[in-house]
Amino acid sequence: MCGIVGYVGPGSSLEVLVGGLRRQEYRGYDSAGVAVLDDGGTLAIRKKAGKLAVLVDELAASPIADGHTGIGHTRWATHGGPVDENAHPHLGDDGRLALIHNGIIENFAELREELAAAGETFTSETDTEAAALLVGRAYRETGDLTEAMRRVVGRLEGAFTLLAVHADTPGVVVGARRNSPLVIGLGEGENFLGSDVAAFVEHTRRAMEIGQDQVVTIRPNEVSVTAFDGSPVPAREFEIAWDASAAEKGGWSSFMKKEISEEPEAVANTLRGRVQDGRVRIPELEPLADALADVDRIVVIACGTAAYAGMLGKYALEAWAHVPVDVELSHEFRYRDPVLTPRTLVVSVSQSGETMDTLMAVKYAREHGARTLSICNAQGATIPRESDAVVYTHAGPEVAVASTKAFVAQVAALYLLALQLAESRGTLTHAEIARAVEQLQALPEGLATVIAESSERIAELAHWMGDTESVLYLGRHVGYPVALEGALKLKELAYIHAEGFAAGELKHGPIALIEPGQVVFVIVPSPRHADSLHRKVVSNIQEIRARGARVIAIAELGDVGVVPYADEVIRIPLADRLFEPILAVAPLHVFGMELAAAKGLDVDQPRNLAKSVTVE
Ligand code: F6R
Repeated sequence: MCGIVGYVGPGSSLEVLVGGLRRQEYRGYDSAGVAVLDDGGTLAIRKKAGKLAVLVDELAASPIADGHTGIGHTRWATHGGPVDENAHPHLGDDGRLALIHNGIIENFAELREELAAAGETFTSETDTEAAALLVGRAYRETGDLTEAMRRVVGRLEGAFTLLAVHADTPGVVVGARRNSPLVIGLGEGENFLGSDVAAFVEHTRRAMEIGQDQVVTIRPNEVSVTAFDGSPVPAREFEIAWDASAAEKGGWSSFMKKEISEEPEAVANTLRGRVQDGRVRIPELEPLADALADVDRIVVIACGTAAYAGMLGKYALEAWAHVPVDVELSHEFRYRDPVLTPRTLVVSVSQSGETMDTLMAVKYAREHGARTLSICNAQGATIPRESDAVVYTHAGPEVAVASTKAFVAQVAALYLLALQLAESRGTLTHAEIARAVEQLQALPEGLATVIAESSERIAELAHWMGDTESVLYLGRHVGYPVALEGALKLKELAYIHAEGFAAGELKHGPIALIEPGQVVFVIVPSPRHADSLHRKVVSNIQEIRARGARVIAIAELGDVGVVPYADEVIRIPLADRLFEPILAVAPLHVFGMELAAAKGLDVDQPRNLAKSVTVE
C-alpha cells in the first residue's frame, strides 16, 4: 500500500517522480504528492487528494520549480481520510524537511502527544506527520539527515518505509525500512528508490535489495546502506527481469484485459527451464533439499487469490506427493498457536512478496522451527528474503489491482513443486510424472484457446447482467477454489455480492439463497473421469434450476450431459482433472472484468483496494 519513489541525479525530478508514481499507482490511489528540491535548496511541495491525474493537473495549474532531488508518494489512507492535508509529503524542521511514509506507525498517538507538548503543531491526522516532525528535530540536533533518520527509526513501532529530503542537502535522499518495501535502483550518475522496481525500471534495470531495519542514503554517484545502528551491511544487487514496456498498457483498454491475455504466457514462463524430458527440476529448491527429503507436512499460507492458488496446490501436493497439506489464511495462521516442527514446510504464496499478513506468518513459521519456501512474483520483494528458498513465478509485472495472470502462474509453480516432490518421494511413476508434465505444458495453449473462444460471449453475458445484484459460484473438488476465485473477482471488480460454494455444501444451507433469476456459475467436472463428480454436479444444477436459477456452466468440450440443464455453457478444452481449474478460471476472470466495465467502473483500480497490502 502506498507507492514511494525517490530520485537524485541530473534528470528532471518531477519527470522521474511522476513517472515512478504512475507505474506504481496500483499500490494506492486516494491521494498523491511530490517534494522537489532544487540545487539552491528550495523545497517545493504539491499534494492532492484523488488519483495521480489530479496531482498532475495541479502541477500544471500551479507549477513548481523542478530540481534534481525529490520524493513522491501515492497514498492508500490508514490514519486520516483521503484529503489534501493528509496526503504526503509531510513537513518537519519548520518546512525545511519533507518526508513520505508507507506503513503504520503504531505508537503514533504517544509520539504526537510528546511532540505537541514540545510545541510542535500538526496540520494533518496522519501518523506520518509525527515521523516528519521527529526527523526534523533530530536533524536540527545532528545536522546530518542520515543520522537524524537513524535516531528516529529506533523510536517507531510498527511497519514503515520512510523517505526524506532536507533543504540543506540537495542531492541526498535518505530512506529507511522495517517490514515495509523499499528497493534501490542503480543508475549512471543517478540513483533511485522505490516501493518496487516499477518505480524506476524505465530508467535502469539494475536494482539492489535493502534488508529489514536498514537505512539507505542515495546520492547521484553513491549508495550507502547501513543497519539502524549505523553498521555497514551487505546489499545484494540484481537485474530486473522485465523491461518498462512489460508494465505498459500497450494499446489494451485496461491492464487487467492485457494481463488476462497474458495468462498463457505467465504459465509458460513459470514452467520454462523447470521441465524437461517429462521431468521437473526446480534448481531454486536446492537450499531446501534436506528439508524436502524429510518433510512430513506442508502448510500453505497466503491471502485472497493467492490462497485459492494454495488450495489448488493442496489438491496436487496430496494427490501426487502424498504429503498432508493445510492451507491457511496468513492472518489466521499466526495468531492461533499453529503446530510447527522442523519437518513442517511452510510455503507462502504471494504475487507482491510484500503482503504484511503473509510476511509476518513466514517470520512466525521460521521462529517456530519450520522451513520456509516462498512462491513469489515480484523480484526484490521482502517475503523471498525472509524465506529459506524462493521459486519465482515469471508472470511479469501485474499492474491491475486484481490478480489474474499471477494466479495461474502460482498454481503452475505449486504443481511443479508437487511433481518434484512426487518424484523424490517415489509417489508417482516416471510415466505419471511425464503425463502430468505434458498436461502442464499444454496449459498455455489451452488457456489461449479458452480466452479467445469465450471472451466475446462472456462479455455479452456481462453486459446483459449489468443490473444483477448477486451472483453465486459453485464448484466441486478443484472446481471449488475456482468458484471462490470467481466470486472474489466479481466482488472486488464489479462491487456485486458474490459467493463461492463447494457444490456438495449446497443442500447444507446455500440453496436457500436460490430464487427465480439468481445467476449461478457452475464449474462442471469432466464426465470422462471414473468418479461420479460430474453426475453429482449436474444433479446440483438440476436442483437449483428447479428453483429458478439461471445457470452458466463452465464445462469441457463435448460434455453434452450438462447441456439440457444449463442456460449457457462456456467450453474449456479437455484436460486431466487437476488441470481443469487453470482453464476454468480464465472465463471467470473475464466475466468479473467485463461486468465491472459494463457498470462503467475502473477495472484496474477498484475502490478501497491496493495491490500490495503492506499493513496488517
Ligand atoms: C484479488 C487479489 C488479492 C491478493 C491478495 C494477496 O484479486 O489480488 O486477494 O491475491 O491481497 O496478495 P499477494 O499475492 O501480493 O500476497
